[in-house]
Amino acid sequence: MDLARIPRRRYTAGHTPIEFLANLSRELGGPRIHIKRDDLLGLTAGGNKTRKLEFLMADAINSGADTIVTTGAVQSNHCRLTLSAAVREGMSCYLVLEERVPGSYHEEALGNHFLFRLLGVDGTEVVPAGTDLQGAMEQMAEDLRGRGRQPYIIPGGGSNDLGALGYAACAAEIQAQAFDAGPSFDHIVCASGSGGTHAGLLAGQQALSSRIPVTGISVRADKAGQEAKIRNLANAALGRLGLDPVVTEEAVQVVDDYVGPGYSLPTDEMTAAIQLFARTEGILLDPVYTGKTAAGLIGLIRQGRFASDEDVLFLHTGGAPALYAYPDAALKDVDA
Ligand SMILES: Cc1ncc(COP(=O)(O)O)c(C=O)c1O
Repeated sequence: MDLARIPRRRYTAGHTPIEFLANLSRELGGPRIHIKRDDLLGLTAGGNKTRKLEFLMADAINSGADTIVTTGAVQSNHCRLTLSAAVREGMSCYLVLEERVPGSYHEEALGNHFLFRLLGVDGTEVVPAGTDLQGAMEQMAEDLRGRGRQPYIIPGGGSNDLGALGYAACAAEIQAQAFDAGPSFDHIVCASGSGGTHAGLLAGQQALSSRIPVTGISVRADKAGQEAKIRNLANAALGRLGLDPVVTEEAVQVVDDYVGPGYSLPTDEMTAAIQLFARTEGILLDPVYTGKTAAGLIGLIRQGRFASDEDVLFLHTGGAPALYAYPDAALKDVDA
């Protein structure tokens, strides 16, 4: 894989750290849990979208765009980071916000919504759940062209074949870090939402002949639908790299037991995971993505899915600003 051929902006200096979580590993009785700190990526408050945006923003700039249009949920980390990248590049940014949970949009909301305002978003349109988001973004882009702008549309989550290359690059980074300082990881656990993270890791590993099993914890979709989506996207990312679409069905593993009542809706397991990471390691997770993903990791450990002498890498994909929009869910008393 030659990622150096593909135009890229840089928003993070160097690698994100991989840390051994001694207290959490002890608390859970093994395996050895390590964390890849992609919550420390560059742009406003970090998170996985920063890696995807390095490729997507380079493409936008090369296309002559002066304005970015994208979409996400009302507390979207992706929208926060895309807006942040646009600010960095001196571009305008417009957001189509999908109110996935009826009544969840509040003009004065904190968390990411507050940051949209602080970062100076140029315009937002709030649409109901189930809206054709691609259509809404194209309409917005058409209106902007009518006003003399040159818009570039970034899909939800930055999850197309180009954005997924951010996580192919992350797979290469993990391999280099394991080679440099060890350990050699036996499993990777990550969130699986719009899919670019999970699919990019699989594509990158395939391209590197690396075979660490990746388990994606779904935050929204059912297992079958999510696995099909991830496989298609991973193979599309390989196509971008000029490689054959060789990601197999067996390589794509999604667990959908931790979604709870739905996307962004709290679960007790999520709350317990957020509290455990905070109180054993001082690490903040978020209620929508990494809290549920960590609940999945803990659940798999308790089911005996990993041997106690194995090294498991938990990918921290960011999202902590959303905590400040869900303080009650994070502080609720739950049985750990
Ligand atoms: C903090 C965080 N973690 C994980 C994800 C899921 O990543 P992906 O959309 O690439 O599947 C998202 C997506 O918005 C996110 O904001």
